Amino acid sequence: MSEADALVVFTPSGKRGRFPRGTQLLQAARTLGVDVDSVCGGRALCGRCQVLVMEGDFPKHGVSSHADHLSPLSAVEQAYSERRPLPAGHRLSCSTQIQGDLVIDVPASSQVHRQVVRKAADARPITLNPLVHLHYVEVAEPDMHDPSGDLQRLLVALNKEWNFGPLRADLPVLQKLQAALRKGEWRVTVAVHAGTQLIGVWPGFHDRVYGEVAASSGAMNPQIRFGEDLMSRVSYAMMHPGGAQQMTDAVRGALNALAADVAREAQIEVTDILELTVVGNPIMHHLLLGIDPTELGGAPFALATDSALGLHASELGLQLHPGARVYTLPCIAGHVGADTAGMILSERPDLSEKLTLLVDVGTNAEIVLGNSERLLACSSPTGPAFEGAQISSGQRAAPGAIERVRIDRDTLEAKFKVIGSNLWSNQPGFDEAVAATGVTGICGSGIIEVIAEMYLAGIITQDGVIDGELAKRSDRIVQTGRTYAYTVHRGTPVLQITQNDVRAIQLAKAALRAGVALLMEHIGVDHVDRIRLAGAFGSHIDVKYAMVLGMIPDCDLFNVSSAGNAAGTGARIALLDSDSRKTIEQLVRRVEKIETAIEPKFQAHFVAAMGLPHSTEPYTQLRKVVTLPAAKPPATRAGSSARSRRRAGG
Ligand code: FES
Repeated sequence: MSEADALVVFTPSGKRGRFPRGTQLLQAARTLGVDVDSVCGGRALCGRCQVLVMEGDFPKHGVSSHADHLSPLSAVEQAYSERRPLPAGHRLSCSTQIQGDLVIDVPASSQVHRQVVRKAADARPITLNPLVHLHYVEVAEPDMHDPSGDLQRLLVALNKEWNFGPLRADLPVLQKLQAALRKGEWRVTVAVHAGTQLIGVWPGFHDRVYGEVAASSGAMNPQIRFGEDLMSRVSYAMMHPGGAQQMTDAVRGALNALAADVAREAQIEVTDILELTVVGNPIMHHLLLGIDPTELGGAPFALATDSALGLHASELGLQLHPGARVYTLPCIAGHVGADTAGMILSERPDLSEKLTLLVDVGTNAEIVLGNSERLLACSSPTGPAFEGAQISSGQRAAPGAIERVRIDRDTLEAKFKVIGSNLWSNQPGFDEAVAATGVTGICGSGIIEVIAEMYLAGIITQDGVIDGELAKRSDRIVQTGRTYAYTVHRGTPVLQITQNDVRAIQLAKAALRAGVALLMEHIGVDHVDRIRLAGAFGSHIDVKYAMVLGMIPDCDLFNVSSAGNAAGTGARIALLDSDSRKTIEQLVRRVEKIETAIEPKFQAHFVAAMGLPHSTEPYTQLRKVVTLPAAKPPATRAGSSARSRRRAGG
């Protein structure tokens, strides 16, 4: 290297070096350890090695940069840009030579280990470091005088061009290899898994690798028809011969349908899907794997395995690429599944000294409490009430469902919003806006809000009784047998919250809160620093109302937020960043598992958590932002007041 060599500075890494004029830019980057992607091995096919020639930015770096400091657009670059236009200032670094001093920016899209920014502002970015990589190679043709197998010549080429050591090949790769080599005229693209295994081969150049969410899709839990909650699904497996297999088929069928959906949306073939990561509750996890979940139905709730698993998608009946691999995140305990592991990976409570509470609200609430010192987890049997089941006007979140409710403190009148419209029900145009869907029921977040608002408006007492005295003040409070109900929607259908509905929510939230209390007790704290609500449902709840109901402990509302689909994000992290798999596998070993079913104090915490927001906790933080009603004497129950007075008197 001499002073006559050109100085090249790469941004954003700041790596710099001098290179003889004529050096290929990609080679210079590699020499300096600059992270530049390539699938095609420098043949101007993949476009992954694109760099941006910085002009006008050079004084800062002390070098000058001009277009003529690079070789002119080569014929192969020209051909590439005719297929896929290169943005202004972009060059293919594999086809460009250094002619003078340069400042070269490597855009994130060209970095192998780029960071994928997550939507939420407080989320850590994901480092792209997938386990499966595509590599394009040119393979020597067979030679009568030097006989060797096609695979052996492919391996020689992979070693020469990509420095691979000995690789093993999946049988489907061998089955397709000869046809692929000949069809591609001795040029093929291979997929290498974990740097050790050939899992796919395509003739010619094939480029389908994603780092971003290309498409997403969701499906109703296909097990719903086998039971509303986890335990009833286990019972289904126990009671029906072949029931477990039926549920396994349903789960796998749903995954296949989802894979077909996302492939269609991303405009790829389902056979372009090479890897899948999976999270789910322990029963879903076992059913997907084809393991009978019966053992999870009773103490001691033994998992078949709590380890993370690397499998072939074909073993699970998943119709993806024939060599596709599946990674299942580890489970934690019999009730605390790979979905909780996903939530931990997404949220990483272990990275902070602050004590974080993570709650995934579902038919089984999964709860994690911890910080850099300790991590505890449990699940609580909340039942399906939060999802609208067992609630008289409850329904799943769908257009037409009430999702927001406000009750006037003086008139006790309700206004609400339904999914599909942004208007409050008392705003002009509301009826027209909901004409197509109607107002059909109350979804989970609506139920949380209406019951919390009923409490804030004094309609429900702290112990959860709908106060019949208020029937005198508002015709929305109506007697239904021995108890009262509150009419949320007067139209057709009439939508009410009954005393039973309030009880069902109290029982669900008390179970959740008791689980949280147990974890807090084990750590020895009386408050938490942060709360994150996860899951499809958790993300839709207004955290203030969740706290008014007492689903979560008292905390500065500023530090309470939604974590979105944290389990899904964890799966995404495990998919994109293979190192994260080791991280979560190690982290779950640190998790202290609390089994609520055998904790003697669970019942006491449960009873104390029945009140709104809690029977004994003062909720001082919440009171700073929400006026909680003063405790009232026990409410009047229809038909019971006279008797209780008689008892009192006699
Ligand atoms: S490395 Fe593929 S186009 Fe440059």
